[in-house]
Amino acid sequence: MTTNELRPIKIFDTTLRDGEQSPGASMNLNEKLEIAQALAGLGVDVIEAGFPIASPGDFEAVREVSRNIRGTTICGLARCNPADIDRAWEALKLAERPRIHVFLATSAIHREFKLRMTREEIIQRAVEGVKRAARYCDDIEFSPEDAARTEHDFLCQVVEAAIEAGATTVNIPDTVGYAVPVHMGQTIDMLRNRVPNIDRAVISVHCHDDLGLAVANSLAAVEHGAGQIECTINGIGERAGNCSLEEVVMAIRTRSDYYRCYTNVNTQRLVPTSRLVVSVTGMQVQRNKAIVGRNAFAHEAGIHQDGMLKERTTYEIMRPEDVGFTQTDLVLGKHSGRAALNERAKTLGFQLTGEQLQTVFEEFKKLADKKKEIYDGDIVALIEQRLHQAIEEEWSLVLFEAQCGSGRTPSAKLTLRRGDRDYTAEVTAGDGPIDAAFCAVEKIINKRLSCKGFEARSATVGRDALGEVTMEIEHSGITCRGRGASTDTVEAAVMAILNAVNRIEAETRRSATPSPALPVEQLAP
Ligand code: KIV
Ligand code: ZN
Repeated sequence: MTTNELRPIKIFDTTLRDGEQSPGASMNLNEKLEIAQALAGLGVDVIEAGFPIASPGDFEAVREVSRNIRGTTICGLARCNPADIDRAWEALKLAERPRIHVFLATSAIHREFKLRMTREEIIQRAVEGVKRAARYCDDIEFSPEDAARTEHDFLCQVVEAAIEAGATTVNIPDTVGYAVPVHMGQTIDMLRNRVPNIDRAVISVHCHDDLGLAVANSLAAVEHGAGQIECTINGIGERAGNCSLEEVVMAIRTRSDYYRCYTNVNTQRLVPTSRLVVSVTGMQVQRNKAIVGRNAFAHEAGIHQDGMLKERTTYEIMRPEDVGFTQTDLVLGKHSGRAALNERAKTLGFQLTGEQLQTVFEEFKKLADKKKEIYDGDIVALIEQRLHQAIEEEWSLVLFEAQCGSGRTPSAKLTLRRGDRDYTAEVTAGDGPIDAAFCAVEKIINKRLSCKGFEARSATVGRDALGEVTMEIEHSGITCRGRGASTDTVEAAVMAILNAVNRIEAETRRSATPSPALPVEQLAP
């Protein structure tokens, strides 16, 4: 079957906007740029890079993505008011293909309790917003927020008015994840049958996963004529998340016989992009996650393995290499060179700069002295640690010693460097060596830290595997994630604490910069 016979479906990625709204998933500018680059390489049609009026950081991210990323549409979110729309355009104006996405809630519950506006006022505001945005560029998306719970007659009126005002895409959000597939399909049919100018716009869907139905609802919408799906890598997003990009793309590809559609996504980049998002956000995907989970292609039952050996299609509907899993896991060793490491890094989804490669290579050599076989997981851990250090490092680790054991009070001795001075603290207290190290860090930096999250996992198999630790640490209302990797898990934890502390210091400096006043209406959609 050729793509000529199939209908194209646009993939609108909102990892950097709705995805970033996941608790604990906030990203800094460099991380957002790196993800945007990966999304462009993946072949998505639209990258929603942020909500420019929400914060100076969001504005800067949309502006830099617009300035640097080519070959795809860059979108910025705005509420239906002049300040938001003007700010969105300010951030987007350097984009090769800019899109302004304006939204306004339409359901009775939102009209009555959140906006306190009548139906007529909503239509008027939507029309004014779309018209204002259309003065800046010709690619305008309009979203009636909570469309899935909006009365059908009113939804048709709003959609018709928005298209008349200049919207080129109308997005139907299931903001609270309430829809079920049949309902979603009927809503799209209803709009196609009842909105007279619907053919002048692309119908899009934006489904949240509160009932675990975001992918199914998006596919139902496609089945009934939607032409765009809004989704995120690994399905991250507000609450239970959004429609997962990798799942919906592979469903459309694997069942093109049924959906008669295709996307422009280069599916071999799915696993590397998923890994990058895990690495940046610290949000792991579960082992059995469809498409990108570690076990997604692992056959355990003997009867399945036997079938696979005879003919892989007996138990496999997709090939692991089609989504970007590599055939082999055992890779490099002590004698491998920089070029081999760089090649492997690229296969795993990382584009390292010369400087990054140099540091990762030095760490790689140290690790190769400690363990004979270096697996993909080890390389990913080393790279992630390096990428996470890509901020101004106020404090660095000079020395760490810990003592612990059954029935004894743990102790930790730490020397940290700031500028050209070293500071040492020794603490005998706490629940264990990590707690004691925490106390020593607090003593040196003279700040109270609270640990909001602590995850430890092994990067690969074997007793000599790298231990990876992720910490979420809060100080004075600022919460940052830190990451560390070492064959000594306690040392990895100390590295993670320091990494988070350095991010908190950078964030504190950044938030001291004055930001423009925001309108009073609530920000998060
Ligand atoms: O969930 C939602 O309604 C949104 C809109 C801004 C599209 O994220
Ligand atoms: Zn959303």
